[in-house]
Amino acid sequence: MTDAPDAKLIEEGRKLFAGEWKFVWASPSIETLPPMASMEVAFAGRSNVGKSSLINALTGRNALARTSHTPGRTQELIFFEGPDNAGLRLVDMPGYGYASAPKAKVASWTQLIHQFLQGRATLARVYVLIDARHGIKDVDQDVLKTLDKSAVSYQVVLTKADQVKHAELEKHIEETTVTLAKHPAAFPDVLVTSSRDGSGMAELRAATVRLLGERS
Ligand code: GTP
Ligand code: MG
Repeated sequence: MTDAPDAKLIEEGRKLFAGEWKFVWASPSIETLPPMASMEVAFAGRSNVGKSSLINALTGRNALARTSHTPGRTQELIFFEGPDNAGLRLVDMPGYGYASAPKAKVASWTQLIHQFLQGRATLARVYVLIDARHGIKDVDQDVLKTLDKSAVSYQVVLTKADQVKHAELEKHIEETTVTLAKHPAAFPDVLVTSSRDGSGMAELRAATVRLLGERS
């Protein structure tokens, strides 16, 4: 687990995400990305892991990003922008590893995900979401490898922590940390979150606002 961020970062993170966040762009393909402008932070992960819900929880908006019980909800790269050009965009990504979607769709989402993660100069950090009930799976490893290869900094965020008993959560944090030690571009600490009860949101906001400071 990460060391507790200091109070100043927590407050800066709270302020940044308390502003009004809005949808700015949707890209169904790598050819239709928005022009590069401010720093981007992307949310990647298996289908249904809770990417869109996490963006809603971070920004305090119930329905900024569209969520669903069924996998395959987000089918494009969706860009959100903060208040008064805060210098940050959030990117909601389609999920990978959705076994029952048509093969052609899965292939095109997977290609879009990997292409975006490989070649975007404004991409400052990728949060790779992992379900706290399941830990890192093979299909996640493919994405971690792409990120290692393209040297994009990333951090693992465990989701749905509200669904897991304390001992199991500790076990998955431990296993995930051991796995990440083998990945050169991975941030070594794991963030533990729940969009449902809000846990980990202050830390995730602080980790994100900190990136802005590092870049400016
Ligand atoms: P795709 O866009 O299909 O890849 O999914 P996604 O990763 O964006 O997941 P989404 O946010 O749509 O959430 C999927 C389901 O998980 C929804 O039913 C959410 O309500 C549920 N969910 C998301 N986050 C949490 C959480 O922290 N706790 C619990 N219990 N459920 C959650
Ligand atoms: Mg989604």
